[in-house]
Amino acid sequence: MSPAVPNARNRVAVLHGANLDQLGRRPAAVYGALTLPQLETAISGYAAELGLHVQFFQTNHEGAFVEELHRLEDTVDALLLNPGAWTHYSWAIRDALEIAALPAVEIHLSDVGAREQWRRVSVIGDLCVATIAGKGAEGYRDGLARLREELAR
Ligand code: DQA
Repeated sequence: MSPAVPNARNRVAVLHGANLDQLGRRPAAVYGALTLPQLETAISGYAAELGLHVQFFQTNHEGAFVEELHRLEDTVDALLLNPGAWTHYSWAIRDALEIAALPAVEIHLSDVGAREQWRRVSVIGDLCVATIAGKGAEGYRDGLARLREELAR
């Protein structure tokens, strides 16, 4: 296991959007049974295995998510983001992600491509180096691994 050294191009912000604080109350068959704190514990474990330093943010307010993206440019090297439903329509979050100009992976717990038509649209996907969906908490490991590859370039 590599040590997670801050400031070595290994700092990843994990951003959770609307309703992800309600994991545990949302349908477990779709989103898994973990609460958000349990998911973050799992993500911290994956990050430690990969030698990455993670920080977490969750909000149910679109403007707060935008402003967090504005703030992150100087403090992290990459983004792993699950904007929840905003993924499918928030042009403000798309613009803020473009402004952040950091390598980003879009992540979803559920298989958004196999659900309702409106969930198949992502307004951020083309700004991201990868999209991972339908792998539950494990998907976050894949997302972090993909970002580590990107940061090693
Ligand atoms: C989600 C999928 C979105 O469509 C939904 O609105 C969410 C969670 C996921 O992780 O599967 O809130 O992003």
